[in-house]
Amino acid sequence: MAKLAHAQWSSRMGFVLAAAGSAVGLGNIWRFSYMVGDSGGAAFVLVYLACVALVGLPILVAEWMIGRRGQKNPINTMSDLAASHGKTRAWAAIGVSGVLAAFLILSFYSVIGGWSLNYTLGSVIGTFNGQDADSISALFGGMLGSPMTLLLWHTAFMVLVIGIVARGVTKGLESAARTMMPALVVLMLILVGYGMTSGHFGEALSFMFSPDWAALDGGVVLAAMGQAFFTLSLGMGIMMAYGSYLGEDVNLISTARTVIILDTAIALLAGLAIFPIVFANGLSAGEGPGLIFVTLPLAFGNMTGGTILGLMFFLLLTFAALTSAISLLEPVVETLEERTSMSRLVATFASGIAVWALGVAALLSFNVWSEVLFFGLNIFDLLDTFTSKILLPLTGLGAIVFFAFCLDKEESRKELNMDIYDYTLWNLLAKYVAPIGVIVVFVAGLF
Ligand code: PHE
Ligand code: NA
Repeated sequence: MAKLAHAQWSSRMGFVLAAAGSAVGLGNIWRFSYMVGDSGGAAFVLVYLACVALVGLPILVAEWMIGRRGQKNPINTMSDLAASHGKTRAWAAIGVSGVLAAFLILSFYSVIGGWSLNYTLGSVIGTFNGQDADSISALFGGMLGSPMTLLLWHTAFMVLVIGIVARGVTKGLESAARTMMPALVVLMLILVGYGMTSGHFGEALSFMFSPDWAALDGGVVLAAMGQAFFTLSLGMGIMMAYGSYLGEDVNLISTARTVIILDTAIALLAGLAIFPIVFANGLSAGEGPGLIFVTLPLAFGNMTGGTILGLMFFLLLTFAALTSAISLLEPVVETLEERTSMSRLVATFASGIAVWALGVAALLSFNVWSEVLFFGLNIFDLLDTFTSKILLPLTGLGAIVFFAFCLDKEESRKELNMDIYDYTLWNLLAKYVAPIGVIVVFVAGLF
């Protein structure tokens, strides 16, 4: 018995690591902080927290449970589960849009992963030592203005991703994640500590947590929900695929809670590390995607031991980005592999190269193609906006609706280990709060 219990624990642990490895990434540090800055602070943060708890949690559990039932890639899982519940196989569309979203997201994710690689090297050679806000901003601007620099680092990042996925060394990466994740948390805490000494910590606190509700509109709410989907890797079939490797004994609700708390804690810590530096140096919180690349080098360049801490930080950020990027390429590769005659190796290279090419278009939008606009957005912003505000919510909505209305209630209740009362509450969340929330926010955001 003892042996069995241990095996169960270690498989749950492995699963939590894999899910957290996908969830914790650039979204928590790079994207969260700049979205908060762009969207005016606390109102965004609070709506984001509500979205994570009321919409993110049920959808995460729904994706895992569907995956565990289906035991296949997202497209076939949805198609087969729908058929076996007397529904149309058109539900497979949810799997298709998920795979498409993963493909599109990885293209711009890799560009930012490249920035992180570049800044890792910059920390090694001491580029940021003793620089002031202006010169650090100028360095960042110089990188954006140079297509060759961006291309080099984006390519390097994609080579790493393709190499890892092709060789299937996910195992090794996952065990590395075991030590890297706590290290990342410790470094974030050190940065928050540094922020506390900056004299602007209170300002950062109120920026993040004391809302000006007047700043709230449909756009902010949609952005907050988009961030919730992005950060939890929802609406892409990734969590569905991960659920298919899941043992029957794992409690989905408590596992989801663990992953969500970890992911949210890292995002909030990132904000508490970054905004004191922003305010102390008179930088703008609405800096955009460059926010962490301007603020953090400034902190590292001016603190004792900053060179080594900065190096560690960008290394860990790159690593977190890699584990997420792998989880983004995997569904594309898996789909090609299972639905065409391609081998895994060919599928990995084909999809990797296609992602890379789209990423090149994304990186050119920071310089030579900055005037190429669609719906008023450059290619980078278009990819980010279209996926986070449209594809992910719609795919996630499909998953939760399928879960709540097509699967057998009594079976779900047993699988979730709930008594009738808890299940009534859960059902309310899964059937009404989450789907209606997504629909309302989605529609309001379009206007
Ligand atoms: N959740 C990851 C992050 O926050 C990004 C990601 C999105 C990874 C979707 C996989 C799928 O960085
Ligand atoms: Na995340």
